[in-house]
Amino acid sequence: MKDILDELEARRLAARAGGGERRVAAQHAKGKLTARERVELLLDEGSFEEFDMFVAHRCTDFGMEKERPAGDGVVTGWGTINGRQVYVFSQDFTVMGGSVSETHGAKICKIMDMAMQNGAPVIGINDSGGARIQEGVASLAAYGEVFQRNIEASGVVPQISLIMGPCAGGAVYSPAMTDFIFMVKDSSYMFVTGPDVVKTVTNEVVTAEELGGASTHTRKSSVADGAFENDVEALAEVRRLFDFLPLNNRQKAPVRPFFDDPTRIETSLDTLVPDNPNQPYDMKELITKVADEGDFFEVQKDFAGNIIIGFIRLEGQTVGVVANQPMVLAGCLDIDASRKAARFVRFCDAFEIPILTFVDVPGFLPGTGQEYGGVIKHGAKLLFAYGEATVPKVTVLTRKTYGGAYVVMASKHLKADFNYAWPTAEVAVMGAKGAVEILYRSELDEPEKIAARVKDYEDRFANPFVAAEKGFIDEVIMPHSTRRRVARAFAALRGKKAVMPWKKHDNIPL
Ligand code: HXC
Repeated sequence: MKDILDELEARRLAARAGGGERRVAAQHAKGKLTARERVELLLDEGSFEEFDMFVAHRCTDFGMEKERPAGDGVVTGWGTINGRQVYVFSQDFTVMGGSVSETHGAKICKIMDMAMQNGAPVIGINDSGGARIQEGVASLAAYGEVFQRNIEASGVVPQISLIMGPCAGGAVYSPAMTDFIFMVKDSSYMFVTGPDVVKTVTNEVVTAEELGGASTHTRKSSVADGAFENDVEALAEVRRLFDFLPLNNRQKAPVRPFFDDPTRIETSLDTLVPDNPNQPYDMKELITKVADEGDFFEVQKDFAGNIIIGFIRLEGQTVGVVANQPMVLAGCLDIDASRKAARFVRFCDAFEIPILTFVDVPGFLPGTGQEYGGVIKHGAKLLFAYGEATVPKVTVLTRKTYGGAYVVMASKHLKADFNYAWPTAEVAVMGAKGAVEILYRSELDEPEKIAARVKDYEDRFANPFVAAEKGFIDEVIMPHSTRRRVARAFAALRGKKAVMPWKKHDNIPL
């Protein structure tokens, strides 16, 4: 008996050693943790239960039968984050470069199936040289099986990807279909074709970091939702995000204890909007002043800064925030902002997370760049996402909201539940100057007349009351009581049930 126990222990030790000391040292030398170290940091201490530690590949080509490391380059299993269940896979770059074989893929599929069955999120840690070259098409099939599961799990359980090393070729499409992607600066990259192929095909000379590093994907492509300094920070931040999310689409997000008075008055908000309508102010100040304990988990903070998205809590309950940012492009909507916010609104709706929208938007960004880029279709994404969202929706207008952008930003017409406005809000088709220039074109060379017309227009429309008279604004509120009003609104909506007409699925403009 003792021998058998010893053998199990020896086998476990061998599996845990991954690719051996030399390769582990090489991994550390790159500033990267090993697959197992990452799992340890991600999960609650001692909570990890491993599956398939002894799975080995079945390939016999290229002498592969002589090297069959236990675990086959990926560590899989489940554990907890602050006591809540999560399934994980963590690719082990020290074992054949974390490359994906038929059996490696099957291990990932197994935990994804368990996650779906048991209603728990999946976190994938990617650090892989891609398809196992020796296995050829079997490896491609393995990816395909993972992709299909990513698709089926979408909107059922949250899926989070951490990119902590190479992720190239078709391999990128698994993370791409998950809800959030986080990268580590300088040690991770994602691209469909690498620098060598790029050079051959397009003659462009580019490094892996420039082509697909964390900075590229958080600032330029928006493929990634956040970039962190190192593995430790990335894993800690994913734990923080996890706490905001429900385990699946049948459960609500967890309610955390809170130590912040929901009726807290913030007098400083009464002077947040400057007297000069063209002067910007920082919308993040409003978000953090409304949030429980000022805690805001921002998503995609380095991309399309003209719109802000992320999670806060109100009375301990998760709320998704979408807010125009007057500090960037005057807060106008453009292609990038629309796409960024639309996907976030859909995530919140899929997982029953209520949506709070702060509005200060002068309209859509004009220009050939925008029109040629399809701002019509992209803007429609946000409009569509808000209109189809059946979760509680509370909207606060802080300053201007003009034209189509007014309707898009969770207006009453898109079935928002509570639409509040600060006294500084202006709901209009456009700004006074633009309106007068169109309505009184013949008087344009008479500046005094025009000035009087602008004043007239402002007196009539530069306020929230025209919209309030029509019931498009439910109430004009004091800025200092925004937290209290919004928290009460969401509390009143906890029993909300709204359904869309039956359909197989909608046809959101993609
Ligand atoms: C098998 C692989 C491998 C792979 C790396 N290794 N990638 N083994 N299949 N795809 C092995 C190496 O042989 C090496 O083994 C160990 O992993 C570490 O690799 P190194 O090259 O020494 O590491 P490094 O210098 O850090 O370079 C990492 C790398 C490079 C840039 C990822 O390994 C590389 O270019 N690999 C091939 C990438 C690739 O072309 N993959 C296929 C892409 S197509 P030893 O024993 O020496 O430690 C694809 C399609 C997916 O993925 C399609 C889905 C539909």
